[in-house]
Amino acid sequence: MSISLIVLAAGKGTRMKSDLPKVLHRIAHAPMLWHAMRSGAALSPERCVVVAGHGADQVEASAKDFDPQAQIVLQTEQLGTGHAVAQARPALDGFEGDAIVLYGDTPFISEETLQAMRDARAHHDVVILGFEAADPARYGRLVTQGDDLLRIVEFKDASEDERAITLCNSGVVAADAKTLFELIDAVGNDNASGEYYLTDIVGIARDKGLSATVVRCDEAETLGVNSRVDLAAAEAAFQARERHALLENGVTMPAPETVHLAWDTVIGRDTEIEQNVVFGPGVTVESGAQIRAFSHLEGAHVSRDAVVGPYARLRPGAELAEGVKIGNFVEIKKAVLDEGVKVNHLSYIGDAVVGARTNIGAGAVTCNYDGVFKHQTTIGKEAFIGSDTMLVAPVTLGDGAMTASGSTITKDVPAGAMALARADQIVKPGFATKLFKMLKARKAKQQGK
Ligand code: UD1
Ligand code: CA
Repeated sequence: MSISLIVLAAGKGTRMKSDLPKVLHRIAHAPMLWHAMRSGAALSPERCVVVAGHGADQVEASAKDFDPQAQIVLQTEQLGTGHAVAQARPALDGFEGDAIVLYGDTPFISEETLQAMRDARAHHDVVILGFEAADPARYGRLVTQGDDLLRIVEFKDASEDERAITLCNSGVVAADAKTLFELIDAVGNDNASGEYYLTDIVGIARDKGLSATVVRCDEAETLGVNSRVDLAAAEAAFQARERHALLENGVTMPAPETVHLAWDTVIGRDTEIEQNVVFGPGVTVESGAQIRAFSHLEGAHVSRDAVVGPYARLRPGAELAEGVKIGNFVEIKKAVLDEGVKVNHLSYIGDAVVGARTNIGAGAVTCNYDGVFKHQTTIGKEAFIGSDTMLVAPVTLGDGAMTASGSTITKDVPAGAMALARADQIVKPGFATKLFKMLKARKAKQQGK
């Protein structure tokens, strides 16, 4: 059975108090919208339609960043969730199969849950995702009879008895796309909000002799974001869940609560992540690596048995091969470090390629930027870069080359050569003693002694 997604993302999100559309606020470095689209993507949908309204241009750009095939439809006036879904109809023209409605501000629906809804569709025309709410508050209530869902009542329209129901509507719907649009055609707006409620399709379906049922999920999955307080809670929930998953998958973290993960962080088993490590987007760490305390990584790939930190920074394009060692106060950006390279102290390596087993001494810097252009540094294998070497790019050093400490390297160094680019040392015997004596006398005179 083919699936298409309809992701509702037109709402303003007034309570966010933000110029940014609500669904573009980030959880674990990804817009909420991406989390929702990622859940749905697990079903390999044939089409993905995002209904945008407030900040539609920004929402469109973001949706296409995640999925270039995504179609964006505009809901110029927010007349309700039913009206929002109706806007997707032209985008699903000619599509045969099920439509699944997701909310852009409900980021944590799991793949298993969506799969369960798809399975339930084998026996029912309309499947609604529900949950037992600890505090049902203003959620829509699900009126059931055995396995059958009779209708959904919005809180505002519910009687006292209906408000006592704790089984609530998450908003996620699965139905045959054609049936869904036909049902929506029959939805009116004669209710407490004057809105076209998507939820009315259940009662309408029953009246037409179609069947409806509820698939239940954990309340944590249906967590919706309406304010920055909710956003922080969603972040915390995401972090807790993903840390737990990493621990379960064989990653060691002595203080997991201090490790910050991104939405797409991938970490292999038998890797150790020490305290206070931050992962930005796009990081993969392979098995057996060690990420030591207070390191910050983004857009980086760390291979097996590499050691990073403490206090290291890996920026986008940092590519560390097996057994690489990056030490304290070292920054690596857009640089490929081959097997066994060591950069242990106080260095900046950017726009560079470094060959296997090369050792880079303390305080070495690739001077990659001339104020306008970025330039490349290439170092061969088994080279030795002395401490405080400035490598003024573009520059190339061959295999086994060596630079003397304190050198400013502006010309290529051939394989096996030693480059020494610093002023010759002058030694003046006894001069230090004389100088100190003179300075101390001057100080004594100033202090009137
Ligand atoms: C909706 C459900 C309610 C459910 C709750 C779960 C309806 C009528 N009610 O209520 O049963 O318990 O979600 O959170 O569906 N949106 C649009 N265009 C619109 C209106 C909404 O795109 O015209 C989007 C919003 O941006 C949001 C989602 O749809 O992402 C839900 O809308 P919202 O107004 O928050 O619905 P609720 O009143 O919370
Ligand atoms: Ca809501």
